[in-house]
Amino acid sequence: MNLKEKLAEQKEQGLAEIKEAKDLKKINDIRVSLLGKKGPITEVLRGMRDLSAEERPKVGQFANAIRDELTQALADKKDEIEVIKMAKKLEKETIDVTLPGVPVTTGNTHIITQIIDQIEKLFLGMGFQVVDGPEVEEDHYNFEMLNLPQDHPARDMQDTFYITEKILMRTQTSPVQARTMEKHDFSKGPLKMISPGKVYRRDTDDATHSHQFHQVEGLVIDKHITMADLKGTLQLIARTIFGEDREIRMRPSYFPFTEPSAEIDVSCFKCNGKGCSVCKYTGWIEVLGAGIVHPNVLEMAGVDSNVYGGFAFGLGPDRFAMLKYGVDDIREFYLNDVRFLSQFSQKG
Ligand code: DAH
Repeated sequence: MNLKEKLAEQKEQGLAEIKEAKDLKKINDIRVSLLGKKGPITEVLRGMRDLSAEERPKVGQFANAIRDELTQALADKKDEIEVIKMAKKLEKETIDVTLPGVPVTTGNTHIITQIIDQIEKLFLGMGFQVVDGPEVEEDHYNFEMLNLPQDHPARDMQDTFYITEKILMRTQTSPVQARTMEKHDFSKGPLKMISPGKVYRRDTDDATHSHQFHQVEGLVIDKHITMADLKGTLQLIARTIFGEDREIRMRPSYFPFTEPSAEIDVSCFKCNGKGCSVCKYTGWIEVLGAGIVHPNVLEMAGVDSNVYGGFAFGLGPDRFAMLKYGVDDIREFYLNDVRFLSQFSQKG
């Protein structure tokens, strides 16, 4: 057998082996054994030195062509195996994109937070600052600075949880009034603030009482503040929460830290003032307390009551939410029942 025949035979054998190959490892083995340094083709080429000068290039060309052909066959087979492998993999991993997806559950802001957010937005728009105060408060700020000295009878309405004799869970957000007034630099302009937060009372929990609930305090101190400023501001709150057409009405009341004091009613949003079960057939719903800041409160906080005056109000977001959405038990807000809370989702 001459060299050419030997090469041709190697080629046929090689091609047959490649055709049979089933995986990439086999392809690699064939490549090494056929074309590697110790492979038959290299071997044959090594025998070329015994050929005549005339024959050498021809055999060389022939050998190179065979090497190229085998290399190509190996590459083609490799591609083929890879395609099959991928097809098998894809078949195994098929997903049915027409199946309905699993809905993603997202939470929503608590309804009380939503009401507070609405009020904050309204007041920030009018240049008020939103101030935080401590929930564990001193008797000094919770009562004394608000014109409720020790043994004042009005303290009875706000019994609470005492930490020590002089430290308690605040019963109202009003102490933030005193804290803010003390710090305010009036040479820089008027004081306009609201303060939302939690308050505590030693109440027996029932449908309308909870030992912990929320308030938003409001306070404006400037020169020439009148009851008309207070009324306009409260009107805005009523309309923001209960609707554009709401009217308010002020009834005389008593709070130790305001004089005069008023109880504020809003015209019933359910019956528009005609009378229904929501407004107990009066056409009006009581929503908050307010008044003109008592001179004693100003003086105790270091504000000259001959120069400055102001108004204050305190409202309950829990009560607002109960009225607005017809929730008949305040405890619902604090049970953390998703079925209740998700009714107030703001989505869509
Ligand atoms: N702090 C009062 C309460 O809890 C509510 C209140 C009434 C606040 C009148 C005020 C106000 O600022 O002027 O019952």
